[in-house]
Amino acid sequence: MTSTDTPRITDAELRAQFPLLHQKLGRYDLVYLDNAATTQKPQSVIDAIAHYYTRDNANIHRGVHQIATRATEAFEASREKVQRFLNAAHKEEIVFTSGTTDAINLVAQTWGRADLMPGDEIVVSEMEHHSNIVPWQMLAQEKGAVIKVIPVTATGEWNIEALDALIGSRTKLIAVNHVSNALGTINPLHEVVSRAREVGACVLLDGAQAVSHFPVDVQALDCDFYCFSAHKLYGPTGIGVLYGRRQLLETMPPWRGGGEMIDRVSFSGTTYNKPPYKFEAGTPHIEGVIGLGAAVDFVQSLGWDAIHQRENELLHAATERLLRIDGLKIYGTSSRKVGVISFLAEGIHPYDLGTLLDNQGIAVRTGHHCTQPLWERFGIPGTVRASFAPYNTIQEVDTFVSALEKSIDMLR
Ligand code: ALA
Repeated sequence: MTSTDTPRITDAELRAQFPLLHQKLGRYDLVYLDNAATTQKPQSVIDAIAHYYTRDNANIHRGVHQIATRATEAFEASREKVQRFLNAAHKEEIVFTSGTTDAINLVAQTWGRADLMPGDEIVVSEMEHHSNIVPWQMLAQEKGAVIKVIPVTATGEWNIEALDALIGSRTKLIAVNHVSNALGTINPLHEVVSRAREVGACVLLDGAQAVSHFPVDVQALDCDFYCFSAHKLYGPTGIGVLYGRRQLLETMPPWRGGGEMIDRVSFSGTTYNKPPYKFEAGTPHIEGVIGLGAAVDFVQSLGWDAIHQRENELLHAATERLLRIDGLKIYGTSSRKVGVISFLAEGIHPYDLGTLLDNQGIAVRTGHHCTQPLWERFGIPGTVRASFAPYNTIQEVDTFVSALEKSIDMLR
C-alpha cells in the first residue's frame, strides 16, 4: 500500500491522541492555534518519556548494567531515527543540542570562531528569527566579520535579485531559515545553496518551522548544517538537533567541555572524542532524545500526504475567511507557505485582540515573534499569528474567525 492509498485518519481519531486538546478555558473549548510556537504532544510521546522513567532510567554510554544498556540503546536508536528522518548519510552527523538556538550557537562558537577572519561575510535574511541573527552578530563583533542581509519583498519572500550583490568571494556562511516562523513562507533554498557552492561558502539552515510540515532531505538540500527543535515536531522541549556534514564536524573544535566529549583527559593535555560525542558534553537530555524518537515515529505514522492535505485545507479555509474581514491585513502572502497566518486588524493592537481571543478559548500568538527586523521592514511592531497543526479542524477555524470578528467589533 502506498502512502496515498492509506485511509485518512479522522479528525476525532487524530485529536484523541492529544490529551491537552480536550479541555475548556472557562466555558469555551480550547482552540489551540499557536503551533508555530510549540506543538502539542501525542500520547505516544508522553508514554515514551514515562516508560523511560518507569523502566529504563539510567545514565547512558557509561554503565555495563542492563538498565544502562537499555537507556543507551533507546537513546542511540533515536539518533538513527533522526538520521533517517533527515536522510543524513551518517548517524555521526546527528548532534543532540538543547534546541535550534543551541545548535546555531554551537556552529557560531566552534566553526565560526575557528574559521572566520576579519572582513569575512555572513549572509542572513531579513525574515530570520533572532536566534539566527544574534549569534552571528556576536561572532561578527568578536571576529571583525560583516553581516549582510537578504531583503524581503512586500509578499514576505526573499528578494532573489539582491543575491548577486550580497554573495561573493568574502561570503563564508549563509545562514537562513527554511520556513519563516512569522510569515510561513517556504524559502527557495536552491537559489541560495547553488550560489554558496559557487563561492565556496558554508550553508546553515534553520529548519525549526519546516520539519513538522514536509519531509527534509539534507543530502538533496546540499546544506552543511541543518537545525531543528523537537518541541515544534510534537516532541519534548529542551531537545533539538544539529545535523552537520561529517567532514565539517570532524574538523570543528569542541565547544562545551566535560564528560563524554573527551577521548583522554590529562593535565599534560586532553584529547577529544569523535563527533557527535565531541559536541555532547555531560549527561544529555536522555528522556528528551527518547521523546524525540517517538515524535519522529508519530509523524511517520501520520504520513506526509495526510499532514500536507490537512494543513493546506486549514490554511486556505482560514485565509479565505480572514480576508473577508474589513480592515484585516495578512503579512506573508507567498504562494509557497505553511499553515501560519500573521495578521493585523486596522487600528487594533495585537495584544488586545490576543487577549479577547483568549477570553473565548482561542490560543494565538501576539507580538514580534522574535523577528523584530522583519516587522521593522513592514513598519509595524508585530502581529497576531494563528498557526495550524493537522489536529486542528475546519470547525476550529470557523470558531476562531467568529471570535475574531466579535473581538474586532468590540475593540472598534
Ligand atoms: N520561535 C517560536 C515562535 O515562532 C517561539 O513562536
